[in-house]
Amino acid sequence: LAVRAGSYADELVKTAKSIASPGKGIMAMDESNATCGKRLASIGLENTEANRQAYRTLLVSAPGLGQYISGAILFEETLYQSTVDGKKMVDVLTEQNIIPGIKVDKGLVPLAGSNNESWCQGLDGLASRTAAYYQQGARFAKWRTVVSIPNGPSALAVKEAAWGLARYAAISQESGLVPIVEPEILLDGEHGIDRTFEVALKVWAEVFFYLAENNVFFEGILLKPSMVTPGAECKERATPEKVAEYTLNLLKRRIPPSVPGIMFLSGGQSEVEATLNLNAMNQSPNPWHVSFSYARALQNTCLKTWGGRPENVKAAQDALLTRAKANSIAQLGKYTG
Ligand code: 13P
Repeated sequence: LAVRAGSYADELVKTAKSIASPGKGIMAMDESNATCGKRLASIGLENTEANRQAYRTLLVSAPGLGQYISGAILFEETLYQSTVDGKKMVDVLTEQNIIPGIKVDKGLVPLAGSNNESWCQGLDGLASRTAAYYQQGARFAKWRTVVSIPNGPSALAVKEAAWGLARYAAISQESGLVPIVEPEILLDGEHGIDRTFEVALKVWAEVFFYLAENNVFFEGILLKPSMVTPGAECKERATPEKVAEYTLNLLKRRIPPSVPGIMFLSGGQSEVEATLNLNAMNQSPNPWHVSFSYARALQNTCLKTWGGRPENVKAAQDALLTRAKANSIAQLGKYTG
């Protein structure tokens, strides 16, 4: 079949399929230095390179993590960094059978002409960066842009988000990196679940329109959607069954079955909520691999347990493994609490 993903088409399919394998998901540990600083501040630590290295060493070397985690998304610093014992972080992941990935966007800035919305930077020079990241061992990439429901979303913001994702995806594929396509629809707001559903239908329609227009090879991408839930400040909460019903409806109406994996973000849900919602979505067969790419919902307890103390490393790794295992079971639809 003719594709434009260039010489990497077969490899892209292979990478995407191994990430989307049964019982496995992604560990997002690609917090920018600013975001990582907030996480470290929450346990009273300074945002130094040594502290970021110590924490990320703990994550990548959790024994047996590769049973549940097939890919780890890194921030650029970590891709080039060694662990506290002097091994390359990417080598530790590869030994665990975890594929290294890289966050390639340059973050959000105000979108001029919009309703206080944002756009995501990073396309300038991207092709040379993705080529270098591949050389360094990365095999997939992430670009996170956001859509705000309370601020609109304006047609302009949705179009910009979709176009940026599509350009990034085409560029990543030409460097051999499987692009994770992530238009995060932020949880913030008082709106109900029907409004989230309506916005998600619009956003994903535009994303796939521009992905197709940019000749992106669907068999070689992964998606990172937000689940369809009520806004965080909405009084009416939704059960996991309801979240699953709405979210699966969205996928059925908008996502072609050629896309191998749908790796949800947790977006501020609690650890258990994120696991229960994932489990509910895997109660019936679907054409994709419906799984997780969580940061906070894998790391929250782990980070608190660690608290920056070397004597807590093992307990913190156990906390990470507990969440990873629970989500692995939820990916198989067999989580019982
Ligand atoms: P959360 O799971 O904490 O939302 O983070 C996932 C992520 O990587 C957002 O881009």
